[in-house]
Amino acid sequence: MTRLARTRVVAIDGPAGSGKSTVARGVARKLDLEVLDTGAMYRAVTLLALEYGLDLADGPGIAATARTVRLELDSPPGSVALDGRDVSREIRGPAVAAAVSQVSAHPEVRTLLVDRQRRWVDVHGGGVVEGRDIGTVVFPDAPLKVFLTASPEERAKRRALDEAAADRPTDEREVEQAIARRDELDSSRATSPLRPADDAIVIDTTGRDADGVASEIVERFRATAGAEP
Ligand code: DC
Repeated sequence: MTRLARTRVVAIDGPAGSGKSTVARGVARKLDLEVLDTGAMYRAVTLLALEYGLDLADGPGIAATARTVRLELDSPPGSVALDGRDVSREIRGPAVAAAVSQVSAHPEVRTLLVDRQRRWVDVHGGGVVEGRDIGTVVFPDAPLKVFLTASPEERAKRRALDEAAADRPTDEREVEQAIARRDELDSSRATSPLRPADDAIVIDTTGRDADGVASEIVERFRATAGAEP
């Protein structure tokens, strides 16, 4: 069961605004799989730490508290709940965005969430899993690993559009600076830094439409799956 589930994994990594979420949804639809948004899990634990007033430098303390709380994804689809409370909106707010890189750098937090991500895939019979370390750490044996990139300007533009859609209109320059700061922290941390797996295909999504990128990934996945014994 476990091995079979993991042969149906598409790992999608990349920095903020590289198009991961939209592309992951497109790939999942075409392959009839579900999406696991691992960033939402790190954001939920960050929200928890902020709400409980925990010391953000205390990785073991945050992980211990997170262990006592029910973190549910996808009921309803795309939602995130902490102990039955829907926090889908709160986890996208500025307080969480400012703290999530610090919280997600703690090895104790990562160990807890990576374990939950692997269990999610086993239960769901595979999935399209998006994050920062999926191809390098969580599913190093995934049949297809994709690393998405895009120019800093385009990434900032996409994030600003997301913010506007969520009624949090913001300045594009500010968004660009905020994501540059977060990328720097995510890429330079000691544990599971953001980087492409050695065997990942790297796709620059600048100026490309998400459906075209999703189709390209699906073709590559089918070719890889076809090549399996
Ligand atoms: O994808 P996102 O912007 O929602 O992710 C929020 C943060 O979570 C990101 O700045 C880094 C962290 N993250 C991580 O460390 N590992 C993952 N697999 C996914 C996200």
